[in-house]
Amino acid sequence: MKILVTGGTGYIGSHTAVELLSSGHEVIIVDNLYNSNIHVLDRIEKLSGIKPKFYEVDILDYDKLEEVFKENTFDAVIHFAGLKAVGESCIIPLRYYENNISGSLNLYKLMQKYGVNKIVFSSSATVYGDNYPVPFKEEYGYGDTTNPYGTTKKFNEIILSDLCKADENLSCVLLRYFNPIGSHESGILGEVPNGIPNNLVPYIAKVASGELDHLRVFGDDYDTVDGTGVRDYIHVVDLAKAHVKAIEYCTKFKGADVINVGSGKGYSVLEVLHAYEKACGKTLPYKIYPRRPGDIATCYADVEKAKRVLDFEVERDINKMCEDSYRFTVMNPNGIE
Ligand code: NAD
Ligand code: WQD
Repeated sequence: MKILVTGGTGYIGSHTAVELLSSGHEVIIVDNLYNSNIHVLDRIEKLSGIKPKFYEVDILDYDKLEEVFKENTFDAVIHFAGLKAVGESCIIPLRYYENNISGSLNLYKLMQKYGVNKIVFSSSATVYGDNYPVPFKEEYGYGDTTNPYGTTKKFNEIILSDLCKADENLSCVLLRYFNPIGSHESGILGEVPNGIPNNLVPYIAKVASGELDHLRVFGDDYDTVDGTGVRDYIHVVDLAKAHVKAIEYCTKFKGADVINVGSGKGYSVLEVLHAYEKACGKTLPYKIYPRRPGDIATCYADVEKAKRVLDFEVERDINKMCEDSYRFTVMNPNGIE
């Protein structure tokens, strides 16, 4: 298929581009490079043998985005482009609503205008909120989102579901990612966070490289195996492969379908830290801090639907996730340049 990948130079998008190209799909990337850079395209080429066609376009710019649709005929879209920092979304919510909702509406309008009727959307486990027992099941629907970022994901899911009700030819797969971590095992692609990372594994990586002196563990009094928060971590290459299955699934059904993408297992903060210590061969210092506002104790996916509908199961465990993250950190001390 000829696939438009928005946000394709970003962390998950770039890994997905490699998997799509390696599976024989054609990839055209649109990204405004707000949170990624142009050199990612060379890295994608190194891994797949193909340099995807690239447009430096902001999806908020309807006219420029329309040029992309005029110049290409797409079979499907995978929509990664978006802002993703939970804390920042509470400080500048308008920017998040504008980028993640208005930008997406431009894309959906152009898909309609140019007759593109298959889309895979990057949603998030955050849409479950804190109302439900684990494992989180797709049939729960939505919980109360606790931040504007999460609300933009929920709104996009609702918008796409409504579009499917109005257009019987549309196929939308709404993938709810759990916690993607790790890097391509070559060490050539990976996550390059801006500034001090908010997320656990990018933060640990900077402790391992000596850039930060200790991990702040947010709370050790949760009702979990060791008192620290439990999450469902998924290797980014497994997640990328799930997108290849999802885009192929789009050809087999009509309507909107929500699917969790996780490992189905939960690991605590200290378990992840210890796996990372094993991967880098060092003891990594940590200190216990108060709970982080908005965090829940435990979050992991029910993965039965992904297995049943997409025939998808993860292949990479927490040790592999940490080993690959560390390899990327060592090989790219200045990020992707
Ligand atoms: P990322 O920031 O690495 O990638 C997003 C890409 O989108 C970046 O390259 C950025 O430059 C681009 N972008 C942002 N706004 C744009 C715009 N207006 N026009 C064009 N390009 C734009 O993030 P990621 O981790 O790869 O996440 C990809 C998607 O998955 C996002 O929608 C994110 O919300 C979602 N998601 C991520 C996680 C996670 O933990 N990483 C979890 C759940 C869902
Ligand atoms: C994981 C665990 C923290 C940092 C977020 C978004 C979610 C999704 C993925 C986009 C928690 C603890 C963290 C640190 C710590 N993104 N922690 N010290 O919060 O599960 O999910 O990213 O959709 O929407 O909310 O991920 O990596 O921030 O935290 O102790 O320095 O690590 O308290 O228990 P989270 P995370």
